[in-house]
Amino acid sequence: MNRYNNIHILICILLVSTLFFSCKHGEDEYHSITDKIEAKSKDYHGTSISSEQYLEGVKTIEITEGDHTFLIPERKSQIKSYACAECHSKPLHEMQHTDESKKAHWDIKLAHADQNTMNCITCHNGDDMNDLKSLTGTTIDFNRSYKLCSQCHNKQFDDWKGGAHGKKLAGWAPPRASMTCVNCHNPHKPSFETKWPARYNTQKVKERE
Ligand code: HEC
Ligand code: HEC
Ligand code: HEC
Ligand code: HEC
Repeated sequence: MNRYNNIHILICILLVSTLFFSCKHGEDEYHSITDKIEAKSKDYHGTSISSEQYLEGVKTIEITEGDHTFLIPERKSQIKSYACAECHSKPLHEMQHTDESKKAHWDIKLAHADQNTMNCITCHNGDDMNDLKSLTGTTIDFNRSYKLCSQCHNKQFDDWKGGAHGKKLAGWAPPRASMTCVNCHNPHKPSFETKWPARYNTQKVKERE
């Protein structure tokens, strides 16, 4: 009976010791993967990798929207007919032709929202063409035209701020630089043509044979 007990105690000691000491001999002497991550990241103070070199020659401006601060491309120098006020020095109605064929911006046809919702003056400021304007009449700089879009497309705007909609310029390393809405969408005709995925066409293969 005594003997039986001794063996029992011995097994117990063995079990307990493996529980306590076995991990000492484990991988890299860390008790768990979280311990390892914590220990290894003690001296980590961010990365020294930068995207800056890829942004050379791209004129950008810095914006802050909510918790996000990042760079977007500058636009004004890219707009052919800027500065608008070189021609738009008087009220629009004094400049407008009734003859369609004489329209100054004949090449711009709105294909965005319907006419109830939107015309040129929904976005452009008839009193100061060098700036855009919000629905309530506040001034929006051409470099920050995303503020125009965010009024009606808040979901895409939120996604864009967080980096989920749109595309990064340069790389993933800081500083963060993102394309702005008008880099991809023409504000006058913003939707893209639907594209069908290319697929294997048995008919064509037959014709070629
Ligand atoms: C070369 C001269 C010129 C420049 C530069 C110019 N505009 Fe115009 N714009 C006109 C004239 C002229 C009209 C009057 C429209 C017409 O011919 O009926 C006009 C009309 C407009 C209208 C009203 C459209 C309509 O059919 O009534 C808007 C909006 C407009 N311009 C925006 C702009 C903006 C924004 C810029 C700068 C990015 C700009 N324009 C630059 C000459 C110019
Ligand atoms: C949804 C808002 C919106 C509406 C509506 C709109 N525009 Fe614009 N327009 C913009 C923005 C934003 C830009 C600047 C785009 C960029 O940064 O390239 C612009 C640019 C322009 C330019 C300069 C383009 C160039 O390449 O020189 C002209 C001219 C212009 N708009 C005229 C008009 C006219 C005329 C109408 C009505 C037929 C109109 N816009 C309606 C937002 C709008
Ligand atoms: C005054 C409100 C308003 C403003 C400002 C506005 N949009 Fe729109 N937009 C609409 C409406 C309404 C539609 C058509 C309904 C729809 O398809 O969502 C539309 C359609 C679109 C579409 C096509 C959606 C699709 O499903 O094909 C895109 C892309 C778009 N807008 C981008 C922009 C961008 C970029 C700007 C800023 C330059 C902008 N919008 C400014 C109201 C607006
Ligand atoms: C890098 C290019 C890019 C940028 C930047 C971008 N978009 Fe888009 N956007 C797209 C593409 C691609 C689609 C999908 C088009 C499709 O599915 O046909 C899209 C779709 C949309 C649609 C249609 C609805 C949807 O989600 O499919 C809206 C509205 C829109 N974008 C608004 C915006 C606004 C507002 C901004 C700026 C805050 C913006 N986009 C910035 C490329 C871009």
